[in-house]
Amino acid sequence: MSRSANRTLQITPLALLLAVATSSARAAPPTVEPLESGRAVYEHWCAPCHAAGPGHPGTQSLQVKYGGRIPPVLLDRTDLTPQLVAQFVRQGVLSMAPFRKTEITDAELAALAAYVARNHKAP
Ligand code: HEC
Repeated sequence: MSRSANRTLQITPLALLLAVATSSARAAPPTVEPLESGRAVYEHWCAPCHAAGPGHPGTQSLQVKYGGRIPPVLLDRTDLTPQLVAQFVRQGVLSMAPFRKTEITDAELAALAAYVARNHKAP
């Protein structure tokens, strides 16, 4: 065997290891747990106003605001980013009062925003 072939054989395991390490870091399993906890926060704080059907002021208000051009139900939307969701939650809008950190912590908000924006598609 030639010397250069020998060196290739020595390098390969390290290269493989690095490739596996970096690719597994990139392809980390989807973070199911935060989405689950985000769903719980949503069900508690948001669904009463944003669920589908009559009697939900958030859904009704968004129906009027967008005139049906986009879905009035938050969870059906594909345009909301986590940043936008978080901004509305902390600042409030119209009859939706801002949520304090004693109600929804920053960690809960991150999970909530990721959950509500889970269908976000880049334009
Ligand atoms: C008391 C009822 C109520 C609750 C509770 C509520 N919302 Fe709202 N939400 C509204 C109303 C009303 C609007 C205003 C719609 C408008 O601008 O016409 C709104 C607007 C929004 C918007 C802006 C959407 C847009 O395109 O303008 C987002 C995002 C939103 N709510 C997210 C949430 C989240 C997340 C929660 C839970 C933390 C939540 N809301 C809880 C009533 C509520």
